[in-house]
This record gives sequence, structure tokens and C-alpha cells, in this order.
Amino acid sequence: MIKKCLFPVAGYGTRFLPATKAQPKEMLPILTKPLVQYGVEEASDAGLKEIAFVTGRNKRAIEDHFDITYELEDHLKGSSRENSLKSIRNLIDECSFSYTRQVQMKGLGDAILTGYAIIGNEPFGVILADDLCFGEEGIMSQMIKVYEKYKCSVVAVEEVAPEDVNKYGIISGQPLDERHTRVETMVEKPEPDQAPSNLAIIGRYILTADIFDILRTTALGRGGEIQITDALQTQARQGKVIAYRFKGQRFDCGSIDGFVNATNFFYQRMK
Ligand code: G1P
Repeated sequence: MIKKCLFPVAGYGTRFLPATKAQPKEMLPILTKPLVQYGVEEASDAGLKEIAFVTGRNKRAIEDHFDITYELEDHLKGSSRENSLKSIRNLIDECSFSYTRQVQMKGLGDAILTGYAIIGNEPFGVILADDLCFGEEGIMSQMIKVYEKYKCSVVAVEEVAPEDVNKYGIISGQPLDERHTRVETMVEKPEPDQAPSNLAIIGRYILTADIFDILRTTALGRGGEIQITDALQTQARQGKVIAYRFKGQRFDCGSIDGFVNATNFFYQRMK
């Protein structure tokens, strides 16, 4: 059974400056909830109750968010606002939270490898909080079912416009059915004329523990960083990566457009 979910949250969030000068980008709110809380709720709903953050400098607000705030709770007690902390209190009661720091920004692969200290030798989920996902069934829950069937690494994918392939890890392989593909090739942010397809990895992964050993020997890739896509390519060569076209929607909240779309989407749902 998978119990742990890793959240790499060390990145700077330069696209949202100056808003992210003194606060983590993961704490920017979509309506009244910070982005990272949506991700943790998705993990918890999927049964992943051990939450592991790979943090960096200036990220303390995330730790404070997933902790009790006695003074505030006392102040709200008995008032009409008491319920406004309910969603986060539920998470704090249901989940445990651990933190380790990525010292240098050497890429997503390095961030995940840093998480080994908390994850150890077991399969685990990874959620990139920037990719806010919504489905009638949570995307991570859907992926757990895929893992249970295939018992190998799983990446969530969706089709993107051909001119956007250079923003994503791109996969191709043998389609098994409408939603599942056994991955053969993975390329990190290829130029459109080099891309093997337009199926893009979005920020949801289930990784088997051998990924850590692979990451330890993965050479620097695109952008001079250690890329999880390159490490996954090693597993894919052995037929051990399934790409899953998830049911639902995803908003790229690392971009202004995606952030605004997510805000509008959740606002419409709230009304
Ligand atoms: C990362 C991964 C990329 C993936 C993307 C999903 O890129 O390296 O393969 O497609 O997340 O959001 P980043 O967006 O961190 O540049």
C-alpha cells in the first residue's frame, strides 16, 4: 500500500514576483485555500496520509499552515468564523507532515532524491502543487488504482498544443487502451519538431523506490538540472512506466493564465 506523498516545494516562484518575494508560491490562494492545501487534500483523499515536503529557504509559512494556530483558534471559538479553519484542521488531524530541505536548486530530480530521507524504500506519490487538478474522483486516487494494477511507476498525462510541448516532459509508447500507455520514450521539454508526441506529463507521479538509485546516477539534463523525466526513462526502457490519461481538469497555476482560470473555475463551483 502507498502511504506517502512527496511535495517538492523548494522552487522560487519567479513568475509571480513580487507576490512571492517573501512568501512561498505554494501559499498563493485560489479563493480562500492556498494552492498547496488543494494538493494535500488530493493526497489525503487518495489514502496518502504521510505528507513529505522538500522545502527550501523562505518556505516556513507552509510548515505553519499545516500546524495548529492556538491563539487564532481560541479567538475564533464560538464565533461564526469557527468553521473557516475546518478544512485545514481536518487535514492536520488526518495526516502527518515531515520536512527536509533541498539545499541547492538542482532540478525536480534532485528535489525528489532529497525526499529519500523521508520516503525510504517504498513506492510513493509526488504532487507538484502548481498543477492544480480537479476530478470527480481525485487524480491521485485514480493513479493509485493504476499502480495497483500495473505495480510500476505511473505518470499522469494530457494532450497539449504542439507549440507547448517544450514546457513539459513528453512521452510516447504502446497504447494499452484509451487511458493507459506503456511508456517507451520520455523527453524533457523537447522542441516541437523533436517531440515524440504531444502527451505531456503533468505534476502527478507514482514512483517505485528504485527511482532513488537511478536518480543518484542520472546525469544533468535539460537546463543543467537533474530531471525526473530522464530517471523515468531508465524505468521506461524496462517497460516499467505507465502513462495515464486522467479524468478531470488541470490548471497550470505556475502561470498567470492558469491561476486566473483556476480561480474562476473554483469560484463558479462555489456559487
Ligand atoms: C516539471 C517536469 C516536467 C513536467 C512538469 C509538469 O517541469 O520537469 O517534466 O511536465 O513539471 O508540471 P516544471 O514545470 O517544473 O518546469
